[in-house]
Amino acid sequence: MSTDATSTVPETGRGLFVVLDGVDGCGKSTQAERLARVLEEEGPGGCVHVREPGTTALGEALRALLLDGREDLDAGTEALLFAAARRHLLVSEIEPALAAGKDVVCERFHASTYAYQGVAGGLGAATVLDLLGTFADRPAPDLELVLDLDPASAGERRGADSDRIEAKGLDFQRRVAAAYREYTAEPGRTRAHSIDARGSEDEVHARVLAAVHAVRGGARSGTASRNSED
Ligand SMILES: Nc1ncnc2c1ncn2[C@@H]1O[C@H](COP(=O)(O)OP(=O)(O)OP(=O)(O)O)[C@@H](O)[C@H]1O
Ligand SMILES: [Mg+2]
Repeated sequence: MSTDATSTVPETGRGLFVVLDGVDGCGKSTQAERLARVLEEEGPGGCVHVREPGTTALGEALRALLLDGREDLDAGTEALLFAAARRHLLVSEIEPALAAGKDVVCERFHASTYAYQGVAGGLGAATVLDLLGTFADRPAPDLELVLDLDPASAGERRGADSDRIEAKGLDFQRRVAAAYREYTAEPGRTRAHSIDARGSEDEVHARVLAAVHAVRGGARSGTASRNSED
C-alpha cells in the first residue's frame, strides 16, 4: 500500500526532519529539547518536538502499553505496535508540520526498532526494515543522529527507574548499542550518523547542532548557538 503522503508537496519551503536516537538514558530527551529550542529560534517556520512512540493520543496510549505494561510482549508484537504508532505520528503530526515549513525534532525512529526488536530482540533486521519500509517510510528523516554512549554510562545517567524495555538488562542494552553502531555504519544509510554522547550536555549539544547545521548550511539567523564541534 502507498504511504507516500508527500508527492504533491513541493520540496522547497519544507521543514527539516531530524531524529535523535540511541540507547535508554543516553540523553535523547535532553538534546531534543535543546535542539528544538534552537531550531524554533532560527526559524523561519518554528519547530515541533515529538517523541516516539507518543505525542498523539494513540501514540501515548501505545507507549503506555509498550513501556509500562506488565504483560510480556514478543519482539514481533512490539515491532507492529511501534510501527503503528510511528505511522500515525508521521501522517498526523510530522508530515503536516514539515509541509507547513516547520522543522521537526523526533525522539526515536527506525533505528530504535532496528536495534531493539530487529537485532537485540531477534526478529531480524530485514524483517523490521521491510515492515517500516511498507508502513512508515514517508516522510523520511533528513538526518538521523544516534547518540552513542556505552549502556553502563547511560544506565548511570538514567538512575534507578526502568520501564519494561529498560528492565531487560545490561546485556540486552549492549546488543542494542552494537546494533545502533551497525545501523549508522551501513554505507548506504547516508543520513544516519553516530554522535559521541560522552561529556557534558553542552558538549553533546554542540555536536548535535554541528551535524544539523552541516545539512542545512549553518544557523539561519543570529542566534548565539553556533557550531562549535572540535
Ligand atoms: N551529557 C550529559 N551528562 C550527564 N547527564 C546527562 C547528560 N545528558 C543528559 N543527562 C541526564 O541523564 C538522564 C537521562 O537523560 P535523558 O532523559 O535526556 O535521556 P533519554 O535518552 O531521553 O532517556 P530515555 O531513553 O529513558 O528516554 C537525565 O537525568 C539527564 O538530565
Ligand atoms: Mg527520553
